[in-house]
Amino acid sequence: MSHLPDPLESRQPDHEILPLFLKRWSPRAMTGEPLTEGELNQLLEAARWAPSTYNEQEWRFLYGRRDTDHWPVYMNLLMEANQVWCKDAGVLVVIASHKVFARNGKPNPVHTFDSGAAFENMVLQAAEMGLVAHGMAGFDRQKARRDLQIPDDYEVEAMVALGRPGDPASLPEELREREHPTGRKPIAEISCEGRFSL
Ligand SMILES: Cc1cc2nc3c(=O)[nH]c(=O)nc-3n(C[C@H](O)[C@H](O)[C@H](O)COP(=O)(O)O)c2cc1C
Repeated sequence: MSHLPDPLESRQPDHEILPLFLKRWSPRAMTGEPLTEGELNQLLEAARWAPSTYNEQEWRFLYGRRDTDHWPVYMNLLMEANQVWCKDAGVLVVIASHKVFARNGKPNPVHTFDSGAAFENMVLQAAEMGLVAHGMAGFDRQKARRDLQIPDDYEVEAMVALGRPGDPASLPEELREREHPTGRKPIAEISCEGRFSL
């Protein structure tokens, strides 16, 4: 059973939205159990249905499941600060994106944007399934490219830890104290009508 805080108790939207947006957050405490192939497929399936420019679907998801030979390869990409808690994940994912249009090889200015949309689909699906999905920038991109043989026309974007929610008591003290859902800036700080005035 999870001891993680319920974000729906602490997060208050200023306007009415789907509860799933509030339910999604980035815990670090996980149980160290694997995910089933079915669960992983559901997360990848959700990602697959994201929108993209010309339906390019630039996103690529590479993964290493725990208890496989790939696991240490993926763990070794992470900065130590992320390894500390990712050791209890079930799957580690590297998201890469195709930098050029498939049909003409020209640069695609929104490949990162589109892959971010796919990431969000994945983590919302995980939240709905009661799983942990935690995005990470703290890893060695060059090492990921090298060790996972990612071709030059793909950007290495981010990593994601997937797992089952665990007990925050299992985390080092500093992370335990941060194991709470975060708030957000008000709409007035992130949007304006007309010219940029933020
Ligand atoms: C692209 C990306 C990179 C992130 N990198 C890290 C990371 O390296 N380590 C970490 O512990 N959290 C990381 N996070 C988690 C963020 O800190 C977290 O999403 C943010 O504080 C908002 O909190 P919430 O996701 O719980 O709503 C990252 C999140 C995203 C989307």
